[in-house]
Amino acid sequence: MMDKNLWYKNAVFYEISVRSFKDSNGDGRGDLHGLAEKLDYLQTLGIDCIWLMPIYPSPLNDDGYDIADYYNVDKSYGTLDDLKELIAKAHRRNVRIIMDLVLNHTSDQHPWFQASRSDPNSPHRDYYVWSDTDQKYKDARIIFLDTETSNWTWDEKAGKYYWHRFYSSQPDLNFDNPKVQEEMINVARFWLNLGIDGFRADAVPYLFEREDTHCENLPETHAYLKKLRAFMDEHYPDRILLCEANQGPEDVRPYFGDGDEFHMGFHFPIMPRIYMALKKERYEDMARIMQRTPPIPENCQWCTFLRNHDELTLEMVTPEERQWMWEQYAPEPRMKINLGIRRRLAPLLDNDRRKIELANSLLFTLPGSPIIYYGDEIGMGDNLDLPDRNGVRTPMQWDDSPNAGFTSGKPYSEFVKGRLGYRNVNVARQMNDPDSLFNSIKRMIAVRKKHEAFGSSGMEWVESGNPHVAAYIRRHGDDTMLILNNLSASAQTVKLPPQYQKKYLDLFAGNEHVIADVLALDPHSYHWLQMQK
Ligand code: NOJ
Repeated sequence: MMDKNLWYKNAVFYEISVRSFKDSNGDGRGDLHGLAEKLDYLQTLGIDCIWLMPIYPSPLNDDGYDIADYYNVDKSYGTLDDLKELIAKAHRRNVRIIMDLVLNHTSDQHPWFQASRSDPNSPHRDYYVWSDTDQKYKDARIIFLDTETSNWTWDEKAGKYYWHRFYSSQPDLNFDNPKVQEEMINVARFWLNLGIDGFRADAVPYLFEREDTHCENLPETHAYLKKLRAFMDEHYPDRILLCEANQGPEDVRPYFGDGDEFHMGFHFPIMPRIYMALKKERYEDMARIMQRTPPIPENCQWCTFLRNHDELTLEMVTPEERQWMWEQYAPEPRMKINLGIRRRLAPLLDNDRRKIELANSLLFTLPGSPIIYYGDEIGMGDNLDLPDRNGVRTPMQWDDSPNAGFTSGKPYSEFVKGRLGYRNVNVARQMNDPDSLFNSIKRMIAVRKKHEAFGSSGMEWVESGNPHVAAYIRRHGDDTMLILNNLSASAQTVKLPPQYQKKYLDLFAGNEHVIADVLALDPHSYHWLQMQK
């Protein structure tokens, strides 16, 4: 049996925008009570851990990633007690909850920044990165390319420039200040004491700045993150840190340290390559990036995802590949944002049921613990009329009653329009339909959870003799899985090497069959096969 502190190694995660999920009080915005009402649903789906997007008080210039108070829950979501109650209810169902921890920056409305900018003698002055010139750290890229022209913004009050890697309303904290380092550990302690199971740590590559570097992944950053981890290991050994570092595999690897930094890290580079594979109908890009992915310590785990609350980021592909991805997946200019595509899974895959399931088959069988973005399990659409990334953060589609069963009041946002809107696509309808996408995903989760092989590290590519079929082995002890994904829209055949010509149990169909010689695969089909003795 696995050490119970390693629960995350074989867990299925589910990301939630609380405002979008379920409104319990009719104010039109989702809240913690509403989410609590839907725990049964999440349990039915089979997930193990929820990731809550930021619920801190915030002016919402970046949907809560601009925090004005680290020690409270925004009133619109409820109270700290409501969160405690939600955690208790989730724990009774064996569901854990992690939340965002935004270390790199605050909102400009945060009292620290207000004090910092207004008074040079304030103890908070050095909480932020101030400068008399905007010429420092020129090698740092701008992340929000569509809106920001510099990482420095002039502040009248301070008579100086302040540093920010994201919106100018999100000043970066100064991690060279030991007080800031301590503050953020205190913040972590507060939420861990409240019962939270860990953090998705936002934007960690950017904590420190150093001249003549691109100000990402600096040694100082790793040193601080190790301190945070040591603190958690000492007091909260069963809680986790999940790393948001949108970096290549070589640069993410150090965030696992020697198993003493992050427990988990998003695998950003594999994500766009799944979409590349689906469009090209070839698996080579996926295989190449997985082969480029260094092994990680035994107590660590990747987190794989198809979509999240941000744009489908194309930072981790070459400029040519990015151009190609935009051509393929963002035919309308408004679908693009920064270096990505602001669309949801179902519309990206033409609402093609087979492709959506195939993408999920890859998600659930590649190394790492998968995370589902709320609504993607029913194939919800997006709303491109909404600005920024709000089009992929529309209210959850519970049923086909007015306002999708999301609120009895006036919803905070428009819904998805058209055929992927709630009249057609909703939870109630799909739960009742054994053939729905929801039920397929639920089955995949159930099968995955029965086999530790899926949570094990490593994979072996199997030479399928066919560039359209991604074939690989996942193994734990003597439990061996052969996974076959036909990326092609046409039927394909494979001839497996002799060592794989064996008897298998099909984990979905439940029947055994012997693979010998040539095997035929239906278009866009996937097979999870357990090798038999
Ligand atoms: C990454 C988050 O996922 C994104 O939504 C946010 O805008 C930036 N970090 C800044 O916090």
